[in-house]
Amino acid sequence: MAKLYVNPKVKKGHINKELQGHFSEHLGRCIYEGLYVGENSEIPNVNGMRKDVVEALKEIQVPVLRWPGGCFADEYHWRDGIGPKETRKKMINTHWGGVVEDNSFGTHEFMELCEQLGCETYINGNVGSGTVQEMSEWVEYMTFEGVSPMADLRAKNGHPDPWSVDFFGVGNENWGCGGNMNPDYYGNLYRRYQTYVRDYKHDSHLKKIACGANAGDFNWTAEVLRTTHSNAPKEFHGFMNGLSLHYYTVPLDWKVKGKALEFDEDLYYQTLKKTLYMETLIKQHGAIMDQYDPDKNIGMIIDEWGTWYDVEDGTNPGFLYQQNTMRDAVVAGINLNLFNKHCDRVKMANIAQMVNVLQSVILTEGDKMVKTPTYYVFDMYKAHQDAELLESSIETVEIGTGENKVPNLSESVSLGKDGKIHVTITNLSMSEDYAVESVFAESAIESVAGEILTGEVHAHNTFDAPETVKKESFDSCSIKDNTISFTIPKNSILHLAVTVRD
Ligand code: AHR
Repeated sequence: MAKLYVNPKVKKGHINKELQGHFSEHLGRCIYEGLYVGENSEIPNVNGMRKDVVEALKEIQVPVLRWPGGCFADEYHWRDGIGPKETRKKMINTHWGGVVEDNSFGTHEFMELCEQLGCETYINGNVGSGTVQEMSEWVEYMTFEGVSPMADLRAKNGHPDPWSVDFFGVGNENWGCGGNMNPDYYGNLYRRYQTYVRDYKHDSHLKKIACGANAGDFNWTAEVLRTTHSNAPKEFHGFMNGLSLHYYTVPLDWKVKGKALEFDEDLYYQTLKKTLYMETLIKQHGAIMDQYDPDKNIGMIIDEWGTWYDVEDGTNPGFLYQQNTMRDAVVAGINLNLFNKHCDRVKMANIAQMVNVLQSVILTEGDKMVKTPTYYVFDMYKAHQDAELLESSIETVEIGTGENKVPNLSESVSLGKDGKIHVTITNLSMSEDYAVESVFAESAIESVAGEILTGEVHAHNTFDAPETVKKESFDSCSIKDNTISFTIPKNSILHLAVTVRD
């Protein structure tokens, strides 16, 4: 019997809704085909955005969307994507698959998509191959209200009103595809570029995000923070609101990553073990951040995370298309619980990527669409958005094979905006169900409603069988005073919405 202890009266921090953010890049079929088909497409659309996809995404309450990359961001010149579509530059997307990029999806289209989704905007600017002026003018183009060359140009292109840019990334992976820089060099460039990223609304609305580390590159974090903090007033917080971190779950290694659909027990547990490394990264990068920012004014922004497998056979290797199984759902459950648990420092996280690329929540083929197992995890976790993290802890045992040992269960608990207590538990075991007794301190349980995603680890949805994996209601809980008892099946993600009396 595993015991889960919940202290409904002990609040540990605010869970930003942005912990369930998404990422969309001009990569493969994420933007084109996946999200945007153009106004003249036979696929039902509103102003070019796929109706089916937007509807499905609205269901999971996407809080924020990052765009245009990724590596694409440091090659993107925003002026190529504005004005009449016929005159927009056509070019080759050299980084991703060598296909023609016709720039028909640009700033106006991204803002339209976010409006339809009802989400915040996270724009990633170009430091690698762009100028300070170009970045500065993009921000002016999007957000300046009043008379200015860029505001006038925006109006000429059909949008007199400014948009809101909620987050602005100053470069992406500048240690790699964004310019192969050293951290002190980037740190100094960051100081310079961000100076001209103006918050025209003067209400700290636009939050600036500096490029952070690749996985366990702690030196990058330390050096960027040292450079951005040196000789600057403390209250400037290194001129940033956030510092990013990228970490992907790659089951084998970067050369041969492993297949999305073919894996044995060893590789399953190895995948989960690698996912759990996320917690070490949060703690260690967090400890470095604490040295400069003990009051946690700078958010850790994990703006790329998820599984990365070998591309599906027969697809363009530069398109990063992969299927998504119950293994991915377990990976998502673990990560989202970790982000909740560390919400004092982690302020945003964006799964890579939204549609048709890496660990997507949606896959499309022509006019068909499927929701992946990962989609349903986001659906079940949405009650944590803007909730208060509650103190909780679960008894675990070690499971797995050989060197690949992991805890059997992962959990997080919050007090939702709806006044209910939301418990999410992931069972990492491929073979064992576990009886769980959840004890709520000093509270009598009034009611509990449950939903679950479960299935054999390889189970996935296809265009012919789109509902093999989907969430179902879970009503096998028994309540006694302050305790809820249930059995969580192997390979499953469970959400309980609990009402208590004080
Ligand atoms: O998400 C795919 C790529 O992964 C992004 O373009 C890049 O930032 C990262 O390396």
